Amino acid sequence: MAIQHLKDKSPSFLAALLVLTLAPLYFISYQYRLVHPYGGSGTSKDDDAFSSTDFVRDWLSTHVVAPFNPSALATHCNLTEWHPNLVFNLENANGGIGNVRGNTLDFLFFAIEAGASIILPGRATRSEEDISNVWAARGTFDSFFDEEWFLHTMAQAFPQMAIYKLERHHKMLAPLPGNYLPRSRRSDTDPSNTKQAYLEHLDHWLKENPNFQPENLTLVNLERTLWDIDTRSLPLGFRRNFGQILRINPTIRRLAGIVVLNLAITFRHNINPASAIPRKAFYGAHLRTEADAKGAGWLNDGYSNFSAQTDAYIAQALKHNLRTIYVASGNSTDLELFRVKAASHRPPLNVTSKFDLLPPNEAAALRELSWDQQALVDYEVLQRCSVFGGIVKSSFSYNIAITRDQRLEDEGRVIDPWGVMHREEGVAFDDGVSRVLGRDAWHEQRIPRGMWP
Ligand SMILES: *[C@@H]1O[C@H](CO)[C@@H](O)[C@H](O)[C@H]1NC(C)=O
Ligand SMILES: *[C@@H]1O[C@H](CO)[C@@H](O)[C@H](O)[C@H]1NC(C)=O
Ligand SMILES: *[C@@H]1O[C@H](CO)[C@@H](O)[C@H](O)[C@H]1NC(C)=O
Ligand SMILES: *[C@@H]1O[C@H](CO)[C@@H](O)[C@H](O)[C@H]1NC(C)=O
Ligand SMILES: *[C@@H]1O[C@H](CO)[C@@H](O)[C@H](O)[C@H]1NC(C)=O
Repeated sequence: MAIQHLKDKSPSFLAALLVLTLAPLYFISYQYRLVHPYGGSGTSKDDDAFSSTDFVRDWLSTHVVAPFNPSALATHCNLTEWHPNLVFNLENANGGIGNVRGNTLDFLFFAIEAGASIILPGRATRSEEDISNVWAARGTFDSFFDEEWFLHTMAQAFPQMAIYKLERHHKMLAPLPGNYLPRSRRSDTDPSNTKQAYLEHLDHWLKENPNFQPENLTLVNLERTLWDIDTRSLPLGFRRNFGQILRINPTIRRLAGIVVLNLAITFRHNINPASAIPRKAFYGAHLRTEADAKGAGWLNDGYSNFSAQTDAYIAQALKHNLRTIYVASGNSTDLELFRVKAASHRPPLNVTSKFDLLPPNEAAALRELSWDQQALVDYEVLQRCSVFGGIVKSSFSYNIAITRDQRLEDEGRVIDPWGVMHREEGVAFDDGVSRVLGRDAWHEQRIPRGMWP
């Protein structure tokens, strides 16, 4: 694998991350010591500090879909005819983690089937002033994802693929004019959407292009797609492992470990950090009522406005005997309203969130990150809650449910998550550990087969 290592990191992001990396454990281990003076005789302060470090370390080394098995990917990779001269660039991944993850995985899949090299995929970033503007600037791969893990696993699974990393102002090879929109690989909706049909379509597009010289390095900008591959037409192992190539940036993910540790301390839950989905610990809710969701009309369907979402989350938490609700929301006003509502409920429930559970310095550093980066902490915490609730129009919510469902499948606990649509009104998905509220024809058609766990 050829990697061109060139630095392309925003200095402010790096600075924020450096601050985030060092400090939190000291604060947390101090707190942990206060609340958990266990260990009995002979326990020194150092041992206690160590157990809190252990908690975070064990939590971080645990993944919902595990272990990662690259050989299932490598086998598929052997079916590819490689053309290192052809370089794909993902032109316009955008949105939050749910969409960017989907865009990026689709892009990688199309590159693998074409045997192309790639430019390390970036994304468009959201405006901080207007969160409905998702095209404001550019973000690097590592602003969301774990770059080292990605390069390592790509080299294991797809050793023939070259990955180029470009500097921001690096003079790029001119791409062929126009974005190439790959032919769909949704063979479920149209059986003629085969790999061969896609490759012929690509070949035709390239040959139509007067600048195309097969012998020369050719850069092609790929138009983004979302859930445009029938993942269930692929070998089971491929579908299961492919999405694991993308992990969250480890510095941001580490904050999620600290959040869960502090949640365990504050609400006195005995959480085993090595358990991917701990039972009977806490409920995780994605309260998706922010201005952009409202603006897009997501909350008008009778199942998704603030009161409908919060009623449903409280009911589901109580059904599972969970009295602590970890809430992910990009709207602090709504978060506060939910807190008040839960506290005045009979029986009362405790609502908490990432900013409540981080020591002040770290909470301040997290605030320095962008809106979508902050949400990555929620994404990680919610993956690991006992029971999860989200809404169907959110790819963020649905992605958490689909990934957790893969774990049930791995454990042989197969509950048809879509059966609930026939039993209950206004629920799109429920597999016992995750429930997705609301109905949405487009997502219900695209996601069950198109989203990568
Ligand atoms: C891929 O092909 C190579 C060369 O033919 C072979 O050595 C390797 O074992 C194959 N890998 C897999 C996972 O099938
Ligand atoms: C292709 O490469 C050859 C040899 O390097 C060069 O002479 C030619 O100009 C290139 N063609 C294009 C279209 O860049
Ligand atoms: C937060 O929610 C309130 C209503 O509860 C709304 O007025 C406000 O615009 C929202 N802000 C954002 C950033 O979503
Ligand atoms: C929210 O939706 C419920 C139906 O589930 C409806 O009764 C209620 O009036 C809605 N509230 C608002 C503020 O729109
Ligand atoms: C949980 O909620 C109860 C009831 O509102 C409250 O008395 C208690 O202090 C809360 N626990 C924490 C740790 O905030």
